[in-house]
Amino acid sequence: MGFIGLGTMGQPMALNLVRAGTDLVVWNRTASRAEPLREAGARVASTVAEVFARSEIIILMLANAAAADAVLEDADLTGRIVVHMGTIAPEDSQRLDSAVRAGGGSYVEAPVSGSRVPAEQGALVAMLAGDPKTTDTVRPLLAPMCRETIVCGPVPDALTMKLATNIFMLSSVMGLVEAFHFAARNHLDLGTLRTIVDNSQMASDISRVKSAKLATRDFTIQGGAADVLKNLSLVAGAARAAGVSTPLIETMHRLMEETVVLGHGTADFTAALKALEARDS
Ligand SMILES: NC(=O)c1ccc[n+]([C@@H]2O[C@H](COP(=O)([O-])OP(=O)(O)OC[C@H]3O[C@@H](n4cnc5c(N)ncnc54)[C@H](OP(=O)(O)O)[C@@H]3O)[C@@H](O)[C@H]2O)c1
Repeated sequence: MGFIGLGTMGQPMALNLVRAGTDLVVWNRTASRAEPLREAGARVASTVAEVFARSEIIILMLANAAAADAVLEDADLTGRIVVHMGTIAPEDSQRLDSAVRAGGGSYVEAPVSGSRVPAEQGALVAMLAGDPKTTDTVRPLLAPMCRETIVCGPVPDALTMKLATNIFMLSSVMGLVEAFHFAARNHLDLGTLRTIVDNSQMASDISRVKSAKLATRDFTIQGGAADVLKNLSLVAGAARAAGVSTPLIETMHRLMEETVVLGHGTADFTAALKALEARDS
């Protein structure tokens, strides 16, 4: 297998594949990010073309559709299966699907729910779309990275499904951000709020991680604000295209834009707390 894109998500995902015994060839635009993979036993290719020459199935975990376009430009796709795991617009994924098939390959969408910590724990939830025979081939290979792999239908249904899950995940975390802001401005003890929220029926894996960050004002990146803004834009675009009303997404989009404009694009998206504070100051 090949793996291209060793960023915040790609690096722990690829490490889990290698540790599970997958024979992996990796490449990353910034070469230094491949070193932990080399140490773990992966082969590090010096070009994209080399990854495609040495692998039958190639995972892409890249920032956006433009990055995928750039990578696929240098690839011989004949007989290859491209597994696209990043989050991009459904129409961009359809375009990639056509391009890969035109190049003689097959294409599977496999966007994931879960951020850096679930990626490290091999506890992502992958949504798959594509030709059923190809998704059947790919599904078991994703197991070392995923708690669940769920087939959603033809391309781009997995990406549209991913956007639906984003609405739920982002609204719940942003609700937590607003709760901490409200509590702080009312001079409540944030450690106590965290204990209550963590023990409540609303608690989840992500709420516990984010409540710890909010209680201690630790905005080190897990899910970056700029990436969340991209995701909010993707949902808003898909909602507009389908004539679907998404008022929560619109509100969160405005707040995340403010967060990025304030200079917190590379912080965790719970830094939206600072945008709320700026509104109140
Ligand atoms: N972070 C999360 O919580 C999370 C959760 C679920 C899904 N996702 C999605 O997963 C994807 C990856 O996210 P991430 O957090 O890992 O992003 P990231 O840390 O920014 O990593 C992006 C990767 O894309 C590469 N890249 C960017 N532009 C490129 C180009 N033009 N040519 C070749 N490579 C290029 C980067 O290479 P360099 O190292 O050279 O910059 C890096 O390997 C995104 O689509 C994101 O929306 C993220």
